[in-house]
Amino acid sequence: MKDATQPPETIRWTADGGGLVILDQTRLPDDRIELELRSVEDIEEAICSLRVRGAPLIGITAALGVAALAHQFAVRSQSEPRVPDGPAAAANLQTEVQSWCERLTRARPTAVNLAWALERMLSTARKQPVGTARELAESLRREADEIHAEDRRMCRRIGEHAVQLLRDGGSVLTHCNAGSLATGGIGTALAPVYVAAERGLRVRVFADETRPLLQGSRLTAWELGQAGIDVTVLTDGAAAMLMSEDPPDMVLVGSDRIAANGDVANKVGTFAVALAAHHHSVPFYVLAPTTTVDLNTPDGKHIPIEHRAPDEVRAGFGKLTAPPDVDVWSPAFDVTPASLIDGIVTEQGIHRPPYETSLRAAVEEARRA
Ligand code: MRU
Repeated sequence: MKDATQPPETIRWTADGGGLVILDQTRLPDDRIELELRSVEDIEEAICSLRVRGAPLIGITAALGVAALAHQFAVRSQSEPRVPDGPAAAANLQTEVQSWCERLTRARPTAVNLAWALERMLSTARKQPVGTARELAESLRREADEIHAEDRRMCRRIGEHAVQLLRDGGSVLTHCNAGSLATGGIGTALAPVYVAAERGLRVRVFADETRPLLQGSRLTAWELGQAGIDVTVLTDGAAAMLMSEDPPDMVLVGSDRIAANGDVANKVGTFAVALAAHHHSVPFYVLAPTTTVDLNTPDGKHIPIEHRAPDEVRAGFGKLTAPPDVDVWSPAFDVTPASLIDGIVTEQGIHRPPYETSLRAAVEEARRA
């Protein structure tokens, strides 16, 4: 068994703190390539093109990115005698932070973690008493590191709650990638699988391939394989057949946004898996930190759904697989209604319907912690 406790490093600071190094997830599983991000354009491009992806990780990337840009700004203020560091430079930096946050929030609309993390960075910038740009950059760095560390802790707690649902020799089906590649820690949907492995339980994972960008076969299969966990890939269309022939104990998926009533946005195809699970009486669980719960969105109809470029479907990975001019409809996410969900696991525990009450209580508990 390989070491399931050591997830791949998805993001880290450059040595000078003025940039980020990410694992470029578009290159997996062939190549393990790291990429340096040094400008707001680099960060935006990495998020939009899914070089970094997964709701928690894009929030972390944006937060660390803003802190890195602030660090660069402070270094420039100190080295340019024309604009000496002081209250004026700090005020200029506050304005810059606002514009970086506005720009990065628009990069991907569905995952609420992105807007949530940037809102935290913005409020740190606003709270800072007028001092120097360097002091403000240091506060932003502390806040970004804390967002990253909190996510790591939440993943672990999600895993510890949800591992109670698993059994030795059992199996689960997952869709997309909600593992360590999508978060700052051991993932959300895959967290209980990692905790189970640490405890010596054998759990087999069925990973939907996840059309069109193949996060299931490229990323979930890769990261579980690296950890020595038994994984089997199936095409998305085979999930219903698996449930009738060799039903997994349960479905475990992540989420990009959970509405106040428990409707869940996740990678397109999740809704179809939930319908098939309901038909076959396979329990369906969603695992996500409370930072993915958006109490301001009443239900799934109000969740903004990102649509992707047609060529991701017509000519994915550079190979034409449809007529080059055919129309394409490509939502990146879908919404699974709360009525199909048996439980939602956050770092606060396993929540059951009615979700209006149980999710609100979980979010309030997390705010108090
Ligand atoms: O488009 P992606 O790859 O960012 O989509 C990711 C998902 O849908 C994940 O399931 C979700 O973000 C949860 S990640 C813990």
